Amino acid sequence: MIRLTIDGQVIETVEGTTVLEAAHKAGVKIPTLCHLADLTPEGSCRVCVVEVQGARGLVTACTYPASEGLVVRTQSAVIREARKSVVELMLANHPQDCLSCQRNLDCELQTLANTLGIREIRFDGERRKYAIEDSSNPFIIRDNNKCILCGRCVRVCQEVQCCDVLEWTNRGFDTKIAPAFDETMPESSCVFCGTCVSACPVGALTEKPMRNTGLPDKKVKTTCPFCGVGCNFDLN
Ligand code: FES
Repeated sequence: MIRLTIDGQVIETVEGTTVLEAAHKAGVKIPTLCHLADLTPEGSCRVCVVEVQGARGLVTACTYPASEGLVVRTQSAVIREARKSVVELMLANHPQDCLSCQRNLDCELQTLANTLGIREIRFDGERRKYAIEDSSNPFIIRDNNKCILCGRCVRVCQEVQCCDVLEWTNRGFDTKIAPAFDETMPESSCVFCGTCVSACPVGALTEKPMRNTGLPDKKVKTTCPFCGVGCNFDLN
């Protein structure tokens, strides 16, 4: 066991945990976007930044290892400003169609922007203009224009479902998530288990049947029928 201090609170945790896991264990809330419990931390969104005594600059809590004697601060003006800027940059090239988006009021980016007090778009960036995969796909609407590149869909597809359908493609501003060779999902080896849809924090991957029925009124835990492993996941 190791002991570290988070926001003045001494926390005991097992070696090998991250600062984020230690904080959550102690009831300290740190916002996240690319993080999903049980998936390999990626540290790509930078929303979970915290201050660690002795470290240069801010570090990502979801990837920073907890160690004996570590002193962490999760709230300060600098941290709040950094998190806010990160989300503002994501919004800079995000379609501003929240009112008609299927994930309106159920979107992690929207919730985070609201929590951080973002009331206007400070940076007006270039918009992406990818074709929306809709009529060619019987179950899922894939809108890469709304993707925030958190990689959660890629990791659940690889690490939970072992399908490896969704991948990172291209570089820089053109980076996007798609099946290999830019195939549509029906053309790929996708089995339409829907786990990627459940993992998506925004409206980039949505269930087609929900388009007309709106948000569900409750969440259920279900067992994936794809193989015999019995993986559980939350369904909206
Ligand atoms: Fe830590 Fe995204 S949640 S970098």
